[in-house]
Amino acid sequence: MFFHGTSTVNEKGHLQIGGMDTVALAKKFGTPLYVYDVALIKERARGFRKTFEELNIKAQVAYASKAFSSIAMFQLVEEEGLSLDVVSGGELYTAIAAGFPVERIHFHGNNKSPYEIEMALKAGIGCFVVDNFYELSLLEDICRNLNTKTQILIRVTPGIEAHTHDYILTGQEDSKFGFDLQSGQADEAIKLINTFEYVELLGIHSHIGSQIFETKGFVMAAEKLFEKMKTWKEELSYTPKVVNLGGGFGIRYTAEDDPIPVSQYVVEIVEAVKKKVEELDMQMPEIWIEPGRSLVGDAGTTLYTVGSQKHVPNVRKYVAVDGGMSDNIRPALYEAKYEAILANRVNDINEETVSIAGKCCESGDMLIWDIELPKASADDILAVFCTGAYGYSMANNYNRIPRPAVIFAEDGKAELVVKRETYEDLIKLDVPLKQVLNQK
Ligand SMILES: Cc1ncc(COP(=O)(O)O)c(C=O)c1O
Repeated sequence: MFFHGTSTVNEKGHLQIGGMDTVALAKKFGTPLYVYDVALIKERARGFRKTFEELNIKAQVAYASKAFSSIAMFQLVEEEGLSLDVVSGGELYTAIAAGFPVERIHFHGNNKSPYEIEMALKAGIGCFVVDNFYELSLLEDICRNLNTKTQILIRVTPGIEAHTHDYILTGQEDSKFGFDLQSGQADEAIKLINTFEYVELLGIHSHIGSQIFETKGFVMAAEKLFEKMKTWKEELSYTPKVVNLGGGFGIRYTAEDDPIPVSQYVVEIVEAVKKKVEELDMQMPEIWIEPGRSLVGDAGTTLYTVGSQKHVPNVRKYVAVDGGMSDNIRPALYEAKYEAILANRVNDINEETVSIAGKCCESGDMLIWDIELPKASADDILAVFCTGAYGYSMANNYNRIPRPAVIFAEDGKAELVVKRETYEDLIKLDVPLKQVLNQK
């Protein structure tokens, strides 16, 4: 059995999260239901911050809010003293509505609109992570019009792509994001910013991938960035005050995954940076990171109610639940793998191999292929683990299925932090045909 954080089995044989019986939660709030283990989110946030503090390094840990954004989540992130990475006007709007300190907000994105840039400038956000030449000029122009200055990082592609255990070294990285380091695009960007009046270059940013289990990729990226920084110092008299090494720290979705503790990423990144700083005789920059998944991924569990089943003799048994790709699109999108249990029968012995089907009208709407479970019946509660990142944030209304509710569970208390969408919500934005209206 594979539990995270405060997850445990209670005397009724039910899965308990944050001291709350998940079967009782399912009954009270309905399913599908996302349940977050708040203590685990706090543990991760503190783990990142404490490691930087112990190493006596000036740092910012920014939560990559694309993993899961909601007002309550942003308030929790604020309480934990983290910064916030947003990538759209919508995420920024949510952060402002949550009362998040604007100076700790970093605005990402490869195609920010003039409207979004203006909105962020008027709010007074901490910095922009600028992605391309178009944005650089747009930002300077909008700043001039508003007569306001701003700080930026430029996103560079260091030519290292990391996914889990694979590293791909590419000369000129084929990515839609950032200024290419190899071909000199980043150098050109720095030269251009030097001519600007309103935009100040605070530092550089790189993000090498996701679900990374080793520190090697981050170390390689840091080394490449510092080699380049050496030439910027010599040729452009520019030394970044901030080096942001992005997010991507891996988590344990299934027993096959073997992540390292968050502190180890930080320690090895800092060591690599320190080594380069000494070697190249440079000033130690502030180090920023942007974890998303590793802060909320394994803190989230989705509860579903089991419904229909279909047995294809000698092939497989499908067990269908009341959600699917509408609340978790990752299996369909990336063949992401998950583990699950029957939350109301945790102590029961696994008896059969089944596949968990969603209720959407798509053959690809499968949540888990070939999982061992006790013989499930209708109304059993299936708990799928590690759905806290890119679950709710990628949820959609395919087949007009309302998005689930979200619960924060901690110390025997459960708080509803996102309400379940209703059918009324689903048609709220629809505008009937004028013809139909006129007939009334
Ligand atoms: C620029 C940037 N920073 C941070 C993240 C967060 O990554 P993760 O959730 O894997 O930590 C992402 C993910 O796409 C990203 O693109």
